Amino acid sequence: MGNSKSIATPEHVAIIMDGNGRWAQARGKPRLFGHHAGARRVREIVEACPDLGVKYLTIFAFSTENWKRTQTEVSGLMKLFKRYLMSETKELVEAGVRVRFIGDRIKLDENLVALMDELELLTCDNDTVHLTIALNYGGRDEVARATKRLSREVAAGRIDPETVDAETLARFLDTYVLPDPDLVIRTSGEARISNFLLWQSAYSEYVFIDTLWPDFSRDEFARVLSSFSTRERRYGAVPG
Ligand code: IPE
Ligand code: IPE
Ligand code: MG
Repeated sequence: MGNSKSIATPEHVAIIMDGNGRWAQARGKPRLFGHHAGARRVREIVEACPDLGVKYLTIFAFSTENWKRTQTEVSGLMKLFKRYLMSETKELVEAGVRVRFIGDRIKLDENLVALMDELELLTCDNDTVHLTIALNYGGRDEVARATKRLSREVAAGRIDPETVDAETLARFLDTYVLPDPDLVIRTSGEARISNFLLWQSAYSEYVFIDTLWPDFSRDEFARVLSSFSTRERRYGAVPG
């Protein structure tokens, strides 16, 4: 029995929403104009998920490295996140979307964190689509924070270090309740991970497309998903 399988639809799709700045620059506008256009796309893609058979959608909104940008851009993005969460709450609750956030909240503004907590709570019984927003998220940072929490358990004598394996560590990651992504899509033509879901994407398929995030449509999303269905995932085994 081989362990390889092809799956018609990926259950969990993760997206690196890249290219907002270039999209704005191409129109002679400030970068934040592109971020606003990008935020509007998110709704269309989330709404498309039930029809397209995607149960889990994880989107990269702000990385642990994005603090290196100008103060104007960073504070504009933080304001946008707050506005977005406030304006989308009703829609998300009613559409049956369960919202979760991954990433380190410690560096985020308390008003933003309050909105994140509220949205998680308001949608905690929803099950139509599981939307996870990565905000101040970095894969290395996540593994480091998980290791810190695991180390505390070891130090307290609650975990025997000899029993620690990959599954033990995975239980301490921000994503512990989520399946691993089947497919990771990156827009804007860059072919790199940029610290997104390093651990979880060990066996994910990757699709890199040239479209800038504010131009990424539901139709293109559907096309990317159907190209995934022809791939064969082997998980290190020999097909057979
Ligand atoms: C992605 O778009 C959004 C964030 C990183 C917040 P960019 O802002 O990285 O856009 P480009 O890559 O500069 O075009
Ligand atoms: C990755 O995009 C982060 C997000 C999409 C939020 P970046 O634009 O920050 O990545 P690099 O700098 O091109 O690697
Ligand atoms: Mg970018």
